[in-house]
Amino acid sequence: VTAGGNLVLIGFMGSGKSSVGALVAERLAAGFVDVDAAIEEMTGLSVPEMFERYGEDGFRSFESAALAQALGGTRQVVAVGGGAPVADPNWKLISEGNVVVRLKASMAETLRRLGEGRGRPLAGGGPAEQVQRLTGLLSKREDRYVQARFQVDTTGRDLESVAEEVADIARRQGFGAGASE
Ligand code: S3P
Repeated sequence: VTAGGNLVLIGFMGSGKSSVGALVAERLAAGFVDVDAAIEEMTGLSVPEMFERYGEDGFRSFESAALAQALGGTRQVVAVGGGAPVADPNWKLISEGNVVVRLKASMAETLRRLGEGRGRPLAGGGPAEQVQRLTGLLSKREDRYVQARFQVDTTGRDLESVAEEVADIARRQGFGAGASE
């Protein structure tokens, strides 16, 4: 990790990236960027509205732009959408010079957390369709997610304990100390 890198949280929908990210940033006294929120600010549209107007491809273009902007900063905690690490150029941005932590949860818990999938265009549908779609999507992404150097299972855990573990990882990697590795 180079001095000035960011702490990037990746993982599937419902793995806790946004909630945990905000808590970790507090603990590290660092800035926090939620890339989905940044895209919404950039476009003035919600994520579902963007999918509706521009399709998933259009959304991904905005996402890449917002990601590059967020990772241009230093010493921040950056939570990215579940699909952001998939495209190779995005992964290059995420993985180079940053501490990357992947949050995960069991599918049963993921389904509980996502509920009806409101606000997440890829997580909707009836219960049967939903579980099938999410399982398929996760299995397509797993190869990428496992490339993160740090993997943290959040299943059955509260946000505070996960945030503490992630903050510890960041500190050990010299996050905030100006150290390089
Ligand atoms: C997506 C995840 C969402 C959001 C969009 C697409 C995905 O973010 O970027 O709905 O492709 O997995 P969260 O992972 O924060 O839900």
